[in-house]
Amino acid sequence: MKRCSILVLITILISGLNATSQVANRFFPEKNLTTTGIYYYPEHWNEDQWERDIKRIAGMGYEFVHLAEFAWFKMEPQEGKFEFAWLDKVVALCTKYNLKVLMCTPSATTPAWMRTNYPETFVMDGHYIRGEHGTRGLGSIVNPAYRGFVEKVVTEMAVRYGQNKNVIGWQLDNEPDAKPDYSPSSQEAFRQWLKNKYEKIEALNAAWGTAFWSQWYNDFSQVIIPNTTLVGWWGNNPHALLDFKRYSADTQAEFLDFQAAILRRHISKDQFVTTNYTAVSTGADPRRTKQLDFATYTAYPNGGSNNIGDLGFRLGNSSVILFAAEYYKSVGGVSGVMEIQPGPVNWGSYNPLLLPGTVRMWLYHTFAAGGKLASSYRFRQINYSAEQYHAGVIQTDGISPSAGGEEYIQFMKEIKELRKLYKPGASMPEKLAARSTAILWNLENYWTIDRQKQTSQWDTWNYPIKFLEIAKSFDAPVDLIPETADLSKYKFVIIPAYEMVDSALVKKWREYAANGGHLIITCRTATKDRMGHFWEAECAAPISGLIGAQVKATDMLSSNGKGDILMESTHYSWNNWADLLAPDKNTETLAVFDNQFYSGKAAVVKHKVGKGTVTYIGVDTDDAKLEADILKEIYTGAGATTENYPPGVFVYWRDGFYVAVNYSSENYTMNMTETANIIVGEKILKPGAVLVWSE
Ligand code: GAL
Repeated sequence: MKRCSILVLITILISGLNATSQVANRFFPEKNLTTTGIYYYPEHWNEDQWERDIKRIAGMGYEFVHLAEFAWFKMEPQEGKFEFAWLDKVVALCTKYNLKVLMCTPSATTPAWMRTNYPETFVMDGHYIRGEHGTRGLGSIVNPAYRGFVEKVVTEMAVRYGQNKNVIGWQLDNEPDAKPDYSPSSQEAFRQWLKNKYEKIEALNAAWGTAFWSQWYNDFSQVIIPNTTLVGWWGNNPHALLDFKRYSADTQAEFLDFQAAILRRHISKDQFVTTNYTAVSTGADPRRTKQLDFATYTAYPNGGSNNIGDLGFRLGNSSVILFAAEYYKSVGGVSGVMEIQPGPVNWGSYNPLLLPGTVRMWLYHTFAAGGKLASSYRFRQINYSAEQYHAGVIQTDGISPSAGGEEYIQFMKEIKELRKLYKPGASMPEKLAARSTAILWNLENYWTIDRQKQTSQWDTWNYPIKFLEIAKSFDAPVDLIPETADLSKYKFVIIPAYEMVDSALVKKWREYAANGGHLIITCRTATKDRMGHFWEAECAAPISGLIGAQVKATDMLSSNGKGDILMESTHYSWNNWADLLAPDKNTETLAVFDNQFYSGKAAVVKHKVGKGTVTYIGVDTDDAKLEADILKEIYTGAGATTENYPPGVFVYWRDGFYVAVNYSSENYTMNMTETANIIVGEKILKPGAVLVWSE
């Protein structure tokens, strides 16, 4: 307990001293548009091949090399004995070939001596079984011994490379994921976290509702981590589980901040500090970090899923980059892709060849969405071990570019051409600004809804993405924002299934609408307080005044159920979720249920609030047609024009360039103005193709 408090204290002190994180954009001069890099693991190859490889990396057009991510065993082969001569040599080779270095802290994979001598540094799973040496991400990030070792190796690296002019920045760890840890260290840290939050056990009992099933605690010492593995679904307290998610995410963020603070004691202020979250991150919450300059993401769109149309299995899931590229900007204002799939992977349900052009299209997608860097895992395909079958940009012979490698080369050439055409100071065209949209979303709502979905048809992760896709089909610029963000710069704010609220948040929404904003609130919003309790009032009570209606009841149908909704003269189908609404007298009903025993009841309502509007969509449909038509109506009603791009066709504007990508299986002909100047590609966008133009 004592050790843990000291750890917390040290971290607080360190973060206090280093609270000045940089303005992220300054690391990436606008005129460079995006900078490209590649993961290279010199420790995987014979030393006599290093120079050949690095020369090749430069020759292909890359600008930085990503190093040392999993190389702890080579930097500290024995406890306390550090060896950096090998890495110095690689860094020097990068300098020789004009390549920058992105250095990584190796905390995701620990050397064998750590598991042997300090087994407590590993996490425990839900059966209280210790993680074993041999894979990654199994360090118990709250364990003081593990923390101590991380501190030492990160310090050594920071001292050695922190002033190296060729090192542009640092990636912390690898794909932080807030893994549940049931080890004794974590049990202790969880209790400490709860004490900090609740102070008194009575407060915890109230928040967790422990009067139910005799879960009551007399003292914090009786509390253990809620364990779904052992107790099963029914025995689990959703409020305790929500706190465990919060604790795990807080701890993960604090672990990154801890590493960042160590680095900042030694590194130049010109080196950035970031990490690489997975595109779909349901555990780690990037917005909880305080010390990162910005966050990046890793994108593997194709794991053998069906996606859009016949060619979708080769083109990948179009929502991966779409979502991640916006979401990760909510830390530091900019983002980029740290890893992008360079070809078939080894872990998909099946791993098909990609349609020619796909890697380049993904790269353009990250660029289009504002990406400041585009890097790829990995340079050479490895000839041995767990990722043998995973493509690299270079094939197993060590010298020939793979299909993805060739596409990367092309992309880098084209970016260099675009840089020549870059004109500073371009501002977003009026037509686009008039559609500016924000989607409010946070992981806490994901956690609480996903725990109690109430229908297996509720797709928690993809639900907010549905609205992102609709807004993108209108060609709206969309930000994915936290609830603390300033809403006033957006014409439209979408609040999809935002389950947990408090009165201050609802007040902020009301003010936004009253000042002329257009709010779109959807089902499940405001049904719970921040602890996940229902209100001792009607359903969604805090927003009933705002939406001008009461949510009277909620229905769900089976997967082949046929719910019917009528809006003007058009019928829509639904079967996932339906709130039956009772509108107030000044509220307009936009759509009604047209079958079931409640036929005629309101499903979608619109309410004027001050100078703006609030629309409540009480239904979740699979095909999203109803939602899309409602949104179109709202945008048009507010004076914004909308495009009508088909699924998988995304168009962006950045730095004076329009960029379109096509994940669909059909050709798409872009409607362009007479003055449009095509820079890359053709007006007819084939599947997997890219079009860049200016106007
Ligand atoms: C990523 C990971 C990489 C590599 C890759 C394989 O999630 O960060 O290190 O394992 O997957 O697809």
